[in-house]
Amino acid sequence: MTQQTQIYKRLIETARGAFQRSYSPYSKYRVGAALLTADGRIFAGCNIEIVSYEGSICAERAALANAISEGCRQFEAIAVVCEQTPEIWPCGVCRQHLAEFGIDLTVVVPTASGEFKTLTLQELLPHFFPPKELLGAK
Ligand code: THU
Repeated sequence: MTQQTQIYKRLIETARGAFQRSYSPYSKYRVGAALLTADGRIFAGCNIEIVSYEGSICAERAALANAISEGCRQFEAIAVVCEQTPEIWPCGVCRQHLAEFGIDLTVVVPTASGEFKTLTLQELLPHFFPPKELLGAK
């Protein structure tokens, strides 16, 4: 097993741990995410729903908020794991949130066979609206 495969499997396991903490009483759809920083730290997140549905937060954005709150802004990869279904990819809102901090991020999702698939955020969100558009660095 390559070192990268080991890291991705560890991320998936961390995301699996996170979905156990999901607060999703309305959808009962438990999702966990684990975000790997450039300096090797891992931040987990789970989806959190509230009774006013549109206020809910996805696991990916929860993980991102944890990392940003701890001062990390450079990321290598994120794993996303759902209890019910293998292979769920981040929703559109989460893709744009993650893209804020780098379009080269690798997204890792487990497959039904126990392996995993990866795609870059660039592949998942082509022609995205980039931060430089408003920051002036074109
Ligand atoms: N959800 C995530 O946490 N991540 C995704 O990428 C897709 C959807 C959550 C939001 C909501 O709590 C539940 O799954 C059903 O949409």
